[in-house]
Amino acid sequence: MVEKNTQKKKAVIVGCGSMGREWMKNLTANPRVELVGTVDVRLEAAQSAAKDFNVPPERAFTDLKQAIAACAPDFVVDITIPEGHCPTTVTALSKGLPVIGEKPLAASMAAAKKMLKASEKAKKLYMVSQSRRYEANHIAVAKTLASGAIGDVTAINCDFYIGAHFGGFREEMASPLVLDMAIHHFDMCRMFTGADPKAVYAHEFNPKGSWYKGDVAASIIFEMTKGIIFTYRGSWCAEGFPTAWNGDWRVVGSSGSLLFEKDQAPRAQCPKPGSTGFIRPVEDVAIAVEPVAAKGIAGSLEEFLDTLDKKIRKPQCEVHDNIKSLAMVFAAMKSSRSGRREKIVW
Ligand SMILES: NC(=O)c1ccc[n+]([C@@H]2O[C@H](COP(=O)([O-])OP(=O)(O)OC[C@H]3O[C@@H](n4cnc5c(N)ncnc54)[C@H](O)[C@@H]3O)[C@@H](O)[C@H]2O)c1
Repeated sequence: MVEKNTQKKKAVIVGCGSMGREWMKNLTANPRVELVGTVDVRLEAAQSAAKDFNVPPERAFTDLKQAIAACAPDFVVDITIPEGHCPTTVTALSKGLPVIGEKPLAASMAAAKKMLKASEKAKKLYMVSQSRRYEANHIAVAKTLASGAIGDVTAINCDFYIGAHFGGFREEMASPLVLDMAIHHFDMCRMFTGADPKAVYAHEFNPKGSWYKGDVAASIIFEMTKGIIFTYRGSWCAEGFPTAWNGDWRVVGSSGSLLFEKDQAPRAQCPKPGSTGFIRPVEDVAIAVEPVAAKGIAGSLEEFLDTLDKKIRKPQCEVHDNIKSLAMVFAAMKSSRSGRREKIVW
């Protein structure tokens, strides 16, 4: 039990935009944390966030080094735009502070590797928050597959089709779907299967009638370890019959199949024991969906704090692990441009 404010871990947040504000709600709701400073390149954003989240006005900054000197935090929360993740996180790590930051890890593989090295050099934790790992249905899929309930996983498919009219920067990007959205689904595939990426063939395209400038749709085949093939089909420019934002999934195992669609509880089927014939009769496999105490970004914050408190050794999305999900994004874009199968390295 936390009895005094002094026992709380002090946090400085960098990036006070829309997701930064979600994180400020998350940090201030957590009894193990005290928000002690806000940073943004736009001073007015840092100041208004400080006001709204009860941080003293003199603790709003445009410079992280100044914030660290003045606030003496125990950790830094990096919710800047992807291009801001590398400078922010490397600065915090170089000051000996652990970091939890938003996805995607970085805006390039070169920046991601620099951040990984900075974490190794400082011997401090850098964890990416992949909030979708902290959802009851997703944990149930991962546990069911790991239990062997449908045998060995051989293929996993994800469909993601939503007609999303964002306006703004996404409609100008070269690869809005793969770079800005698919990282969630690629990371979920790794979470579900426990497999790592080996190679990819991707074809990105911009469908007729698209309101995006760049390639907002893609068909992608990943070769994963354990002999698993992951097929991803997606578009942010598809009107009608939307899938879930988490994607609609089919997993084929050596002795059954699992469906996870429309954010409904996952279902699985296997042939009845001893059955024979052309199409074998099947039966449902029971899947337990356990409630999750801390969901989404609340879950990733708990895992980060538990690691700092040495209750667990390593969080799921520690930089050395999460870089594999990012590598899937950049390798897919490379394949799409080269027209070739590309190996995935990190
Ligand atoms: N997990 C999710 O579902 C989810 C959802 C939305 C956004 N995100 C991620 O959160 C991050 C932030 O997204 P957002 O929607 O809040 O963007 P945003 O543009 O609303 O806010 C970003 C803020 O960071 C500030 N900033 C930019 N570079 C900076 C730097 N170098 N130093 C300090 N401040 C800097 C900007 O001034 C802005 O206030 C992105 O990485 C995004 O991908 C994740």
